[in-house]
Formats: sequence, structure tokens, C-alpha cells
Amino acid sequence: MELNILGIESSCDETAAAVVKNGTQALSSIVSSQVDTHREYGGVVPEIASRKHIESIIAIVDEALNTSGTALDDIDAVAVTQGPGLVGSLMVGLSAAKGISYSLGIPMINVDHLEAHISAIHLEHEVEFPFTALIVSGGHTNLYNVRSHTDFEIVGRTRDDAAGEAFDKAANILGLGYPGGIEIDRLSKKGNPDKFRFPRPFMDKDNLDFSYSGLKTSLLYHIRDNPVQDDETLQDICASYQESIVDTLIAKTVSAAQKFNSSRVVICGGVACNSRLRELGREKFNSLGIDLFIPSPKYCTDNAAMIAALGFHRLCKGQRAELDTATYSTALA
Ligand code: KG4
Ligand code: ZN
Repeated sequence: MELNILGIESSCDETAAAVVKNGTQALSSIVSSQVDTHREYGGVVPEIASRKHIESIIAIVDEALNTSGTALDDIDAVAVTQGPGLVGSLMVGLSAAKGISYSLGIPMINVDHLEAHISAIHLEHEVEFPFTALIVSGGHTNLYNVRSHTDFEIVGRTRDDAAGEAFDKAANILGLGYPGGIEIDRLSKKGNPDKFRFPRPFMDKDNLDFSYSGLKTSLLYHIRDNPVQDDETLQDICASYQESIVDTLIAKTVSAAQKFNSSRVVICGGVACNSRLRELGREKFNSLGIDLFIPSPKYCTDNAAMIAALGFHRLCKGQRAELDTATYSTALA
């Protein structure tokens, strides 16, 4: 039997919709980013984000249906991000999903945004369970032991800033604009990662948590005491700072994989686009004989295909949401 799931995502500053067949085949994945609107504020402004979602949600759903060649009548269920995220933004996607579910008489499935980042891997790869997953995004840095399509256990998390936040705040300190992760990645390619030594907290093997706020502060003090005078120094600072983030991400993921005896690792979320993280990850896990899977960049950053992919498996398990389902803003325990 074939099941077409319409996915809807609106947790932050991307309005996205997608149609996915049987949890693996993305027939369409449309993402409308608000980044140009928020750039002038140096970060996402929640009230503006919700309004922008309202303006575009219907058109994006239409585009996802048209691009996939699927009529609304051929949609079997609608999957939607319930949280975590900005509540006003989440409510726009959730309300749209409720309307579609009610009017078509099809099930609505509530999906956790972070778990969906992990499910994105199944759009491109067959990965057997169990596996260790690292989610690195603008708002979260979590390690999971993943036992099945619907069984995710958080085993480590950041105690303060997320890795993406560490990239974006550093870019702000260095005057590189918003969002800055991609710019630091670009500049680092020409820099020397060993030129400066930034902190790498909690590196003991037994601890699976992360901490990035001290790193950001050490960059702030470094720049205050040694203002950047030339491009070469800027590139070296970016490369050294990035190396510190990437080093801790990989070291902790290795520790988690070893603790849970995993022979497969998935790295996902927006920061998984980072070229040095992808490179060091491949080197490290290759040398350990562990298979590493990373989605292609379009499925690392926020999208709705990952929502539909997870929605499919929740639907198959009989997990569906009532029409009075509410959003949640912070990650589930
Ligand atoms: O998963 P995502 O699209 O949205 C959230 O759910 O947060 O992640 C966005 C984050 C931002 O912090 C952005 O700077 C970071 O991903 N990012 C990168 C790169 N591309 C995006 N960070 C480092 N290097 C990159 N190439
Ligand atoms: Zn995300």
C-alpha cells in the first residue's frame, strides 16, 4: 500500500511543506526562508516570524502539492511540527494542519521537530536500528540513542548554548552578519585551525553533555584584547573557533557511539552542513569502523520532508493527534 503524507513545518523562520511517499520518497519539499527579513535584526523576531508564516503557509502547501503532482484528495494524512520552537510560529503550521485534517477527514500526526531532523536521514539512506544520532542546529545540540523509527532517547545535550548559536554569536562578534555559521565555515577554509586555542569543555569520556557559552565568551575576550587587523587573522580565528566546536561535537558523538555500542552514527540539523564537521566526522568514524550518515544539506536545514517522513512511521504505529492538540516550545525530556 502507498501512503502519501503532507508535511508542514513552521517552528522557526522557515515556512515549509512537502509530500513524502511511504516515509522515504520526497515527491516535493518546498522551503520559504524568512532569513532576509530577520537579518536586519541580527536574529529571528518571533512576532514577525508568525506573521510571515501566515502570509505564506497556504501558497507553500499549494506549491508542495503541485510540485509533487499529488491532489489534495490523494493525501492520506497530514504531519505537522508540534514543537519545540516559537509558539506563535508553530501555531500557524498546526492550525493549517488541523484545517486540512478536519476538512478532508484525514488523520493529523503531531511530530517533534528534533526527532524529525533525525528521520531526515531515511529520505536518502537506509540506516538500520539502533544508531547514535547527533542533532546540531541553531537551537539544539542533542545526542540520541535511536532504537526504532519512533523510539528516540536523549542521552546528552548542551547545558547552555547550542552549537549553531555558538557559530551565529561568534559571527556577530566578528561582524560577519546573520546567520553566521555558513560564513565562518567559508572563512575557515583559508585559516589555520591550530593558530589559536579555544576551550573544549567537558571532554571527559563519560560526560555526553556539551557547553558552548564559555567558548563564545573566550572569543569575545580574545577580540577585545587583540582586535582583528587583517583577513588572515580573521580566517585563523574562524578556523580555530570552528575547530573547537567541531572537535567537541565529534568527540562526544564518538563517546556516545562507544557507550551504546553503535556501529552506525547519524549527524543532522543545520550545523551538519558544516564542511569541517562533515570532513572530521568521516575521518574519525571511518578510522573506528563506524558507518556515518549525514543528510544532504537541503535535508539538514529545516524542511517539511523530514516532518512527513517521521509522520509516516507514527501513522503506521497508530499515533495520531486530536484537533485540540497544542504546541510546545521547549524540547521534550
Ligand atoms: O536546523 P536549522 O536549519 O534550524 C534550527 O532548527 O535551528 O539550523 C540553523 C543553524 C544556524 O545556527 C546556522 O548558522 C547553522 O545552522 N548553519 C551552519 C552552517 N550552515 C548552517 N553552521 C556551521 N556551518 C555551516 N555551514
Ligand atoms: Zn531545525
